[in-house]
Amino acid sequence: MMALYLELLRCGASEGKRILIYAAGSQGRGVLHVLRERGIEPAGFIDRNPTLQGRFVADLPVLSPTVLTKPGSADRYFIIVATFFFEREIADFLESYGFERDVGYVTYSRLKPRDYAVEVSGVCNLHCISCPRGGPRGQHRPAGMMDLDVFKKVIAKIRREDPFVGNIQLYQWGEPTLNRKLPEMIRYARENGILCSISSNLNYSADFRALIDARPECLRISVSGTGDDYAVTHTGGNWTVFSANVERVAALRRDICPEMKVELYYHLYKHNLGVQQDQVADMCRRFDFEFHPVPAYLISLDDVMGYCEGKTLPKAAQRARDILLIDIDEGLARARGEASLGCEALRVVLINADLSVSTCMMFFDPEFNTCTDNFLKTAIEEIDARRKQAMLCIKCRKYSIHRYCGIFAKISEEVRYQYEAQN
Ligand SMILES: C[S@@+](CC[C@H](N)C(=O)[O-])C[C@H]1O[C@@H](n2cnc3c(N)ncnc32)[C@H](O)[C@@H]1O
Repeated sequence: MMALYLELLRCGASEGKRILIYAAGSQGRGVLHVLRERGIEPAGFIDRNPTLQGRFVADLPVLSPTVLTKPGSADRYFIIVATFFFEREIADFLESYGFERDVGYVTYSRLKPRDYAVEVSGVCNLHCISCPRGGPRGQHRPAGMMDLDVFKKVIAKIRREDPFVGNIQLYQWGEPTLNRKLPEMIRYARENGILCSISSNLNYSADFRALIDARPECLRISVSGTGDDYAVTHTGGNWTVFSANVERVAALRRDICPEMKVELYYHLYKHNLGVQQDQVADMCRRFDFEFHPVPAYLISLDDVMGYCEGKTLPKAAQRARDILLIDIDEGLARARGEASLGCEALRVVLINADLSVSTCMMFFDPEFNTCTDNFLKTAIEEIDARRKQAMLCIKCRKYSIHRYCGIFAKISEEVRYQYEAQN
């Protein structure tokens, strides 16, 4: 599959078409990394985000999608669509301007059927009310850190089985900076052709110098509220510690690796809008971080499934629900409107700290959600086969929950552009 598409890309280039990567996020950068490894240099990125347009990412210009709407564009450009949630609508957009599937553009999922998440830390330092990891339900899933040697074996297997994988994420439920070997892991993966993204609550004062020196491709920072309100939903966290760590990370990035992408995800709830949101947006402007205001949701689909089956939500999740901007019912109603579409989470293989592989990355409880106990001992084709016929998927689709996270990704993009337009 990969060889075929690399050939397609070379054809596009040899026909005089210039290659553009649609979306300059982690997936787009991962694709760029793999292309460069193979001697293919794209002409730039396309991105809908107005704040990225006109800038350079990994030394390539970021252009607006309007360049593709000009007459003759389909003869000039070959597009690689590299986004996780928006592939279908971008493909529709391209086709409306004369780009033909597999001739004028190729989608990320054809080029790269799988993504990987490696949970290097099965532990979190906080107990956010919208997430099961740090609370009492966290006991249902083994906690612990992945060893560096084990991580190296995981990377080797991914490279062997999926050579087009150019980027992975090193988190799902836990806090990756708690793993002291994280910098070495990031460096090792990079030296072996894979870029790493991490996401952190920045409430643990890790060795940030070593971390940034290892050059993660992207650092996401998660936060919800400021001052005393910060800990309402980043439960157990401390705003002063967080802000000091943000300052430290910003200074180290400036000194060591200014090209490192930093995106701050601000989880929106009823109680942290207005002044608090603006304060964090200002912080992002000051440090040149991307600001992503995202309406919070209950991130463990076990909760959403339980709700659909008429069960009472766990207490913490109920407290979070009470302050959500977009209620479960509304999210589910919108998900039902897209029920016929596929599931994006199915393309992600989540390898847990204990090497077990989850059937679905969005469900937390391991019961009925473990497709193998040992990633290293199970061929990826076997993992695919087991995941595709899992009962969990059948149940999830019955309630259209497979579209639930995608709905929030779409709403988040709308909210972000609206906020940017107003500020
Ligand atoms: C569960 S966190 C674990 C990683 C890390 N500890 C952190 O805080 O970023 C994984 C991702 O979920 C996102 N997230 C957490 N709670 C959320 C919520 N209620 N709504 C939307 N996204 C959320 C975070 O922004 C983060 O990127």
